[in-house]
Order: sequence, then structure tokens, then C-alpha cells
Amino acid sequence: MADPLAVIPGDDMITLMKTSKSQIHFDKAKKVLVGGVNSPVRSFNGVGGQALVMKYGQREKMFDEDGQGYTDYCLSWGSLILGHAHRNVVLAAKKTLERGISFGTTTRAEIDIASLIVERVPSIDLIRFVNSGTEATMSAIRLARGYTQRDCLVKFDGCYHGHFDDLLTTAGSGVAQLKESSSDGIPASHIENTISLPYNNIETLTKTLTQHKNRIACVILEPVAGNMGVIPASQEFLQTLRDLTKKFNIVLIFDEIMTGFRTAVGCVQSEYNIIPDMTCLGKIIGGGFPMGAYGGREDIMKCLAPLGGVYQAGTFSGNPAVMRAGYATLKLLNQDFYCSLNKRCEDFSNKINAFFNDKNCGVHLSSYKSMMSLRFRKEPVLNYKDAGQASGGERYSALFHHLLKAGIYWPPADLEAFFVSGAHREKDLKLLFDQLQLFFNP
Ligand SMILES: Cc1ncc(COP(=O)(O)O)c(C=O)c1O
Repeated sequence: MADPLAVIPGDDMITLMKTSKSQIHFDKAKKVLVGGVNSPVRSFNGVGGQALVMKYGQREKMFDEDGQGYTDYCLSWGSLILGHAHRNVVLAAKKTLERGISFGTTTRAEIDIASLIVERVPSIDLIRFVNSGTEATMSAIRLARGYTQRDCLVKFDGCYHGHFDDLLTTAGSGVAQLKESSSDGIPASHIENTISLPYNNIETLTKTLTQHKNRIACVILEPVAGNMGVIPASQEFLQTLRDLTKKFNIVLIFDEIMTGFRTAVGCVQSEYNIIPDMTCLGKIIGGGFPMGAYGGREDIMKCLAPLGGVYQAGTFSGNPAVMRAGYATLKLLNQDFYCSLNKRCEDFSNKINAFFNDKNCGVHLSSYKSMMSLRFRKEPVLNYKDAGQASGGERYSALFHHLLKAGIYWPPADLEAFFVSGAHREKDLKLLFDQLQLFFNP
């Protein structure tokens, strides 16, 4: 068995903690799962060291196979806004499961959560549930293409919308770790109708949409980008995008899979007061279960089968236990919840940025309420090019392992956002603050 305190050969930066059981399980995982994981970024390739194997979670903490607890700021990539194993969510799923796991018919569970989302999200008149965020964006784009009878789609450099072929070019998140800006295995024909533009750049946006207006079916973006660090779109950029897409009859799709219900009852679109034609949701709406959704204006959604000619289907779509877990989550996400969470995050962000400024650390916290990322430069980050220049590289890896040793779990990749949940208390944020202070000003 490997010495749990050993230093990884060739990597003097990372001292292993007591991860013996995690290591044994991960070695077994590598024999049967590709790279030991079911999603690349979990492998710790971005930060080096031994990937952890988790066993259970409670509130703001998760515990690995060795029984070590970590305050979790990754939160299943932003899904667990109530923290781990929230009682209401677990009970809702459990009660539903005991009455049958899957029916392949409409159930009241779907109607309840759909009604709640339609009531809360300004852009959604009708909704369709799917099983992941990727399925949601892929289907929304098909629908936009069917509705407009045009082929071309516009996205923005550094935004990530899942692993749909047509969107896997110049994408953020784990894709950014690949040597090329896109994945192998994607025929050129799949991305020849994809135009990727710089985020927050009004001039290029205006020029491109005007020039290609008759070819463009839709524009898709994260209104607050969370896959190239956290970068909020400027109000002016989003307003210009809304005005141009309306003028040219281009479908505007907000990918709110990460931002949806993270910061406000009506999602980010209600905070900017810019209403897209369609919205994609995921993560939080499933309460921690696999789920995605896309919805929008009635005339567009009615082009979807069985009402219209655009086909999309799913054996498990709208699974009742998933719907009930999501519904139980959304029921708790009221105005008071967001006021309290957003205030805690704003205080943390102000305090840590004051410290970075004071000590001239050359870093800053770029955040949008409970979505945050550390950027390794002083100047603001506005787009993917800036995000590349603000990457921490080995410094991020060292910070990641410093925090891990202190019992704090951050995303194991520099460009990923970290999140705060309703279960994180002042004392958790104080511990994070203290550890960041220690790292940057030892
Ligand atoms: C903004 C955004 N869109 C889409 C996706 C894809 O969702 P999923 O991983 O559920 O397929 C993600 C995943 O992180 C995301 O952050």
C-alpha cells in the first residue's frame, strides 16, 4: 500500500494527506472507469495529486472514504444550493420512490414543478424536462433551428453549454484543458454553422449579427458566465443582444443551467430585467438529481412534438422522484433565502478583496453573489482572453491543495466557479477567509 504521507514523484508541491482508502478505491476505479471518473474534471488532472473518493455528505460538508470531512464549495458543480442531503429533499424523493420509481406517463410531480417554474421565470410559458443540462441546450438549439428554419448558431468564447457537438468549440470548463479548443471526434460539418464571439464585446456582436442575420437561428449564452471563472455580462452587452436578436428574429437563449435559481427567485434574467425567448435550466432544479429543462415563449415551444415538427423525447424525462426533489428544493428558495445567502457572499467578497488589495497580492475574487472564482490578476476579467491571462496555473494547484489540507474542497480546476450554499455558516466563510489569508500572506 502506498505511503499516505508520501510526496508524489516529480511533484514536490503536493504532499498527500491521509488518503489511503481514497487511493485504493481510485486505483480500482481506474481499472473499470475511464480515468477513474465519469466526468473529466473530477480526475484532478487540473491540479495534480490524488483524486478523492467521496462516501457521504451532510449540510455543507462531504466526507471521503477515509472519513475526512471537507467543507464543500463545489457542491456537485453548483447543484446543491441547500447543501448535502437536505432533509426536505431526501424525504420528498424517498416518499415518491416508495410509490413507484418510473411510469413513462405524465405525473402530478411534473405538473407541480412545471407550474412553479412557469410562475417564477419570466421567459418561460411552456417547459420540457430532460435529464441533463447538455440535453437541454442541445434540444433548445434544435427547437430554435426548427422555429426559424435557419442553421447557424452564435455562442461566446469561454461559455460552456454541455458536450453537444455543435457547441464544443472554444468552450470553457473542462474543454479548456484540452490541447485544441474543441474535442476530437467532432466532424467539421458540425461546427461549420457555429460562430463563437468574444464575451462582453458589443462591437463584434453587432457586426456579426448584422452581417449574418438571415442565417442565424439563435444566440446562446450564460448571462453570468461561470465556466471561465465568474464573469457577469454587462447590462449594456445583454441589452444590445436582446435588441438585435429581436430586430433580426433570432431566438435568444439564456443558458441558466448554472445561474438558474442560484441568486434570485426569477433567475438572473429577472435581475437584469432582460427576457430571452428561451431559457435552459439544470443543476439546482433537480435538487441534486440528474435533470435539465428548456422552456420559453409559447409560439416557439409549440413547435416541439407532439404539438409541432421538432422531435425530442426521453424514456426517463420528468422522473417523479427527481421532480419531487427539485420541487422540494425550489419551495425553500424564497426571497428571504436569497437575501440572506447573497448578503453573506457579498460581505465575504468585499472582505477578501479588501485584504487582497491591501496586501497587493495580484489576485481578486470575481463573483456574482454566491458564484465565485479567484482570478490571478488585479484587473477585472471581462472575457475568455482575460480569463486565460488570469489563470493561476501552478499557483491555483498549490492553493487547491493548501485548502484541501485545511478541510476545504474547491473545484479541482482553475476556470470552474465555486459556490456557497444555504448550509454554509459565517464560521465556514471565516475559515475560508483565514486560509486564503494564510496562503497569500503566510
Ligand atoms: C452553463 C452550463 N450549461 C450546461 C452545462 C451542462 O450541464 P450537464 O453537465 O448537466 O450536462 C453546464 C455544466 O456544468 C453548465 O455549467
